[in-house]
Amino acid sequence: MSPYLFGHDWEQERRRLDLLEQVYDGGTLAFLGRLPLPLGGHCLEVGGGAGSIALWLCDQVGPDGRVVATDLDTEFLERRAGKRCEVRRHDIVTDGLEEDAYDVIHSRLVLEHIPQRDDVLRRLVAALRPGGWLLLEDYDWARPSAAPGCVGGELLERAHDGFAELLAAAGYRPDYGLALSGDMRSAGLVDVQAEGRVHLGVPGSPASEWWRLTLAKICPAVVERGHLTEAEVEELFDLFDHDGFLFRLPTLVAVWGRRPG
Ligand SMILES: C[S@@+](CC[C@H](N)C(=O)[O-])C[C@H]1O[C@@H](n2cnc3c(N)ncnc32)[C@H](O)[C@@H]1O
Repeated sequence: MSPYLFGHDWEQERRRLDLLEQVYDGGTLAFLGRLPLPLGGHCLEVGGGAGSIALWLCDQVGPDGRVVATDLDTEFLERRAGKRCEVRRHDIVTDGLEEDAYDVIHSRLVLEHIPQRDDVLRRLVAALRPGGWLLLEDYDWARPSAAPGCVGGELLERAHDGFAELLAAAGYRPDYGLALSGDMRSAGLVDVQAEGRVHLGVPGSPASEWWRLTLAKICPAVVERGHLTEAEVEELFDLFDHDGFLFRLPTLVAVWGRRPG
């Protein structure tokens, strides 16, 4: 069973995933748009979350194509994309995957959470058709940090310390984004390219709200571990509305490469 920390049963999770899409879909679609994906093509979206990328892939491949969208919990995918693509309740660690089957495979902010990510990467490469493309996106935590002089910067840093400790205990790899291009080459992909993008948590922006909810989900455990008190958590969340609160999110690294053939 996967130790994933952000289960879909949290009442705010759908909103958190919507915000994630608002922040990152623009860049992701630009990268996907560069890959050759013919009408009638076959695609796999791993850990599809709330489903925006799966829907976009459906538009690209048209009615003769095939899009498979997987997740540990498929309720959001079913509701939004169930009529247009094949939604599969599937743990990418333990459940079987077709080989030589897909023209494009994409997964965003999933493998970094999975301790068995090397194995998963090998299976994703094997699931590509010869000539098919894999696009993976994961964070590099060159430390989400407060801007110089940011109000509450020290509090945010302590919340991040607690967050990092919690993630590490769940097998999360915080520098996976940076390791990805080397790992994808070692897994046999060629023409590997990479690009990172950094968003700033400007008060009131989707990026700031995505990060606020991400911290809100894990803060009870951070308090339990003694990094913050309940009162400090309240203070931290008030800061997100403060004009002087500005911070940098981790870098989202996108890496794409082709299976030879
Ligand atoms: C941070 S969310 C990202 C959602 C989506 N990829 C996006 O970027 O909008 C991670 C997603 O991966 C799913 N997930 C986590 N571990 C998984 C696993 N072992 N197999 C399949 N999906 C998994 C989660 O349920 C969640 O929907």
